[in-house]
Amino acid sequence: MARVGVAFGGRSVEHQVSIRSARTVIGALTGAGHEVVPLGISQDGRWLDRELSQRAVKGDLDNLGAMEGELAPTLRHLLDSSIEVLFPVVHGTWGEDGTLQGLCEMLDLPYVGASVGASALAMDKVLCKRQLESCGLPVVEYGWVRGSDFEAHPERALKALPRLPFPLFVKPSIGGSSVGVRKVGSPEELQEAVDFALRFDTTALVERGVQGRELECSVLGDQQLEASVVGEILPGNLFYDYEDKYLLDTAELEIPADVSPRVTERIRSLAVDSMTAIGGHGMARVDFLLEGETGPATTEINTLPGFTSISMYPKLWEEAGLPLPRLVDRLVEIAFAVHLRRRSLDDGIKDWLAQLGA
Ligand SMILES: Nc1ncnc2c1ncn2[C@@H]1O[C@H](COP(=O)(O)OP(=O)(O)O)[C@@H](O)[C@H]1O
Ligand SMILES: [Mg+2]
Repeated sequence: MARVGVAFGGRSVEHQVSIRSARTVIGALTGAGHEVVPLGISQDGRWLDRELSQRAVKGDLDNLGAMEGELAPTLRHLLDSSIEVLFPVVHGTWGEDGTLQGLCEMLDLPYVGASVGASALAMDKVLCKRQLESCGLPVVEYGWVRGSDFEAHPERALKALPRLPFPLFVKPSIGGSSVGVRKVGSPEELQEAVDFALRFDTTALVERGVQGRELECSVLGDQQLEASVVGEILPGNLFYDYEDKYLLDTAELEIPADVSPRVTERIRSLAVDSMTAIGGHGMARVDFLLEGETGPATTEINTLPGFTSISMYPKLWEEAGLPLPRLVDRLVEIAFAVHLRRRSLDDGIKDWLAQLGA
């Protein structure tokens, strides 16, 4: 059994969801026999002491508001925690995007989930789509607009987009929780939607709007990735937007999704192939759009999926016969295995250099 740090909260809009996810993860890790050190991060990125972190876990605090003082010294709460492995449960930017993973790498600290590169790639929708496409995997047709081009000459930047039929979906390339996402029904609305998306990232992704079903599949593993059963999101709103995700609670999950065995198998294999394409390991929830007769297309890979008691990622594994305590235990085990391999690669380099010098 290990001493596991669970980092949660953080700077993204998913701060509160992250706290709820952390409560579930901490409960499951404790149930699996691990010793847990809660590591809360405030909304302005300060690492918090054990007492405040514990209060959030217990449910006394629903968010960890902005703190006074400099950020860097607060890292001592992580540095002094004597943890053997970190389980990041910080969704979105500064958590899911490779930055927290990079901090762990610098500290030589094993951590749960995808590595720096895979996390960063999955977080950037345009880069991720280009990568999936180059591996021959199906994605929804798209183009993108760079903020600097749009600022210099909006009409020209939009004209350079590939011709796609309306409706379109416009979103920030780096983002999450549907923040900045708009459905656009006509050319007149496009400019405003791009302008809006560019408030959240320097690149806007423009995608053909798919009239179809939203399906999701969970992936778990190290060098051999496994796929769970497939689930479906039934949005309560026009699409699965921020309000629908966090405010209204009207969206429904159907597990397993009511799709043919052929589509199920296709999605399961695409989920593993998509994760492999970005060099990912650990965990991910891979999302798909399924349209009429055409096959499913990968829309995004979430390397730090929601982990609340009602979240799709753990629920799909539960349905597949893997209960939460065993799921988190497996993730910790993978973190140690990846770390060991990484060390042996470093040793390989040292040996090679030593031989050169000999
Ligand atoms: N190309 C598309 N066609 C149809 N619906 C889409 C498309 N892109 C996004 N959506 C809708 O918008 C939601 C949010 O988009 P998504 O790409 O998943 O971004 P986020 O990372 O913010 O979750 C999706 O769950 C879906 O309901
Ligand atoms: Mg999404």
